[in-house]
Parts: sequence; structure tokens; C-alpha cells
Amino acid sequence: MDGLPDCLHEREGELCCEGVRLSEIGTAVGTPCYVYSETAVRGRYAALAEAFVGAPCRVFYSVKANHNRALLRVFRELGAGADVVSLGELIRARRAGFAGADIVFGGVGKRVDELEAALAEDVFMVNVESESELRALSELAVARGATARVAVRVNPGIEAGGHAYTRTGHYKTKFGVAWEDAEALYELAARLDGIEPIGVDAHIGSQIFSTEPYRQVLQRLGELAGAIRARGIELRYLDIGGGFGVPHEGGAGIDLRAVGDAARAVTAEYKLTVLVEPGRWLVAPAGILLARVLYAKNLGDQRYYVTDTGSNDLVRPSYYSAHHPVEMVQRAPATEVADVVGPVCEAGDFLALGCEVPALREGDLLAVLYAGAYGFVMSSNYNSRPRAAEVLVSGDRYRVVRRRETIEELMAAEELDD
Ligand SMILES: Cc1ncc(COP(=O)(O)O)c(C=O)c1O
Repeated sequence: MDGLPDCLHEREGELCCEGVRLSEIGTAVGTPCYVYSETAVRGRYAALAEAFVGAPCRVFYSVKANHNRALLRVFRELGAGADVVSLGELIRARRAGFAGADIVFGGVGKRVDELEAALAEDVFMVNVESESELRALSELAVARGATARVAVRVNPGIEAGGHAYTRTGHYKTKFGVAWEDAEALYELAARLDGIEPIGVDAHIGSQIFSTEPYRQVLQRLGELAGAIRARGIELRYLDIGGGFGVPHEGGAGIDLRAVGDAARAVTAEYKLTVLVEPGRWLVAPAGILLARVLYAKNLGDQRYYVTDTGSNDLVRPSYYSAHHPVEMVQRAPATEVADVVGPVCEAGDFLALGCEVPALREGDLLAVLYAGAYGFVMSSNYNSRPRAAEVLVSGDRYRVVRRRETIEELMAAEELDD
């Protein structure tokens, strides 16, 4: 690969995260284990903010990408808001110190208790995705004498993003309301008690590398906001969601300055503040998954390395066919091609197929790169495997910010008669 991600560098023949050797973490904390770099997160946030300088803009970190509260605290300190999509994420964000006024609550299927919580916390904005949800929110708001500030998530019919499952801006997905229904819904929102429409919202997908879809969505949302204003409804915010792409092979990725240029132009033309909800771009290159080789074996010509982590810890290779480079912690040149697989009883359980690796030995440590986003948060207990520990590195210190689960904890909620 071209280079290591933001969170890693090589020192004396070994991969380090900031000032800490990965081997030290592997020995002390055990594997599998997610390792995040606070400095990398801070650096990426600064770069993102810089790209939008000059546009009235607020960043709402998308909690779904990585919800560990230690990272949420870093984003809060940096001045970000939080974009949440469930009651659990809302509570996490609040416990990490975000005020309700710094939280956007989205999601296609919010339950009554989730809408209630959004009202109780008086969140900055609720992004609603259907007429029924809007009416339900209005009733709940009236019942508690509150007002919900809302944006309607519109589906702009723009197809962008990586895997089919990460494309959300076109009509073959469940997200948002149809573009042609949007204006009527804003009319309704303006009439409903307990509702104050303040913005328009879209999220077109994830792993988007081209700036063109963002230019289009900004322009279309700007025009829509203009048309809604012409009906006497004063909107102030234009929320373009997240989705900024991160290449896993090194390289620069999406040109955020160009997205910033489009945002500067549209916010100036329509006198709106742009809201962005990035997740992956901020955290994917800031984290790795640390694992050990358990067994090396051949099936005919095919070389396999079986590790102690797999699709239960990092589902992205199997679920999205995502390529996550696997690097040996003790550096050595690649000499062979092998499949690096997990211990889960599924043929689709792998980390990397056809991976160029050094000749590995059992016990060797591996780093699975770009695992800071949609890694731990999508992990499961399949095969009754406790979920991995999480470690945050800051300078030459590290701390466990979530310990490994125990097998007892996995069974604790089960209620048996005996
Ligand atoms: C509404 C919304 N906003 C923001 C995001 C964050 O996307 P990403 O992590 O690609 O930036 C998502 C991801 O699915 C989303 O659904």
C-alpha cells in the first residue's frame, strides 16, 4: 500500500500508534482490540473545519460511525455537535457532555419514546422522514407544551456512494420523503402545532469520493429552501448529511475544499447555514483493529492465516465487500499471497482475501487498517464471542476506553426457569 493511515507510523521496524508500540498494547490489553488515535481524530477534525472556513457551517459528528464516549468527548471538546439516530445514541451523546442544543436527531424509524426524548432534551433539530412521523411529533410536542424544530429529510434522487447498501439518496431506498412531496410537507409542518420547520436535510450516501454529488445536493437543497421560503416559511439550515469518502489504499480521498467551495457559494446565495454530519471521514483512518495470528495452514495451494478476529468484530469486509488492508505489526516485506480469515463459523468470515503479506508465524500481531469507523459499533456477539476491547492513544500514553466483554456478561440478560 502507498502509506499508512493517519493513526500509524513505523518506528524501529514496528508499527506504532502515536508514541505507543502496538505490540505493547497487544501484550497488555490482549487481542482483538480496537486502537484509536486521539491526535489523528483532532487532526482530521481540524482539516474538515478548515475546508468549510468562510461558509456559515456547523459540524455534527455522526455518532453511528464510532460511539465510544471517549471519542465523543473529544468531538465535544473540539466544538462539534452530535448527529444521533436512536435513543441509545442520544443518551450516549448527552452523557459525553453534548447539550441538547448540540444534537441533531435523525433516523428513518423513530419510536414514540425516541421522539419524546428528542423533545425532552430540546434537541437542536429533528430530521423527520415521513408525514406520519411529522404528525406524531406534533402531537407529542403539543402534549408537553413544547416546540420541535425540524428539517424534513428529502430524497434528492441522487445516486452516489460506495456499496449499494451505502447509497441512500435515490428512490430505491427507504430514506426521506420524495422530492416532489417536500414542499407540501413543509406547508403542513408550518401549520402543525408544536412544529417549527427550520431546515432542509438530505444524506445521499457514504464513501462518496466525487464532489459533484455534493455540489448537486447543495444546489438542489438551496433551491428547495428558496421555494419553501417563497411560501412564507423561514428556513435557516441546509443539512447535507455525511458520506465523505475515505480511500483505504492511502491517497487524499474526496476533495473537501471543493465541497467547501460549493457550500460557500450556496450559503451566500440563499443566506443559509450549512450543517454537515460526517462520521467515517473523521474516524476511519484514526483507528485500527489489532489481532493475532492463531494458525497458519494450506489447503492445496491456498495459504490461510486464521486470526483471533473476524466478521463478528469487523463485519465490513463480508457485508460491504470492503477492502481493509492488513499489515504486520513487526514490519517485514510481503512475500506471499494469503487469505487472512477469522474464527467465526461462516465461509464469509474473512478480513482480507488475496492479501500480500510477509510469511506470518502463529502469534504474530496484525493491524487491520481504516477500522475506526463502523468497526466496533457494528460488531456482534455471534458465536458467543465477547466484543473486543477499545483503546485510545494520546501521545505516548494509552488507556482502555472499553474493556473486553466477558462471557458471563453475554449471558447475563437471559432469563431461564431453572
Ligand atoms: C443521516 C446520516 N448522516 C450522516 C451519516 C454519516 O455518514 P458517513 O459516516 O459516511 O460520513 C449517515 C450514515 O449512514 C447518515 O445516515
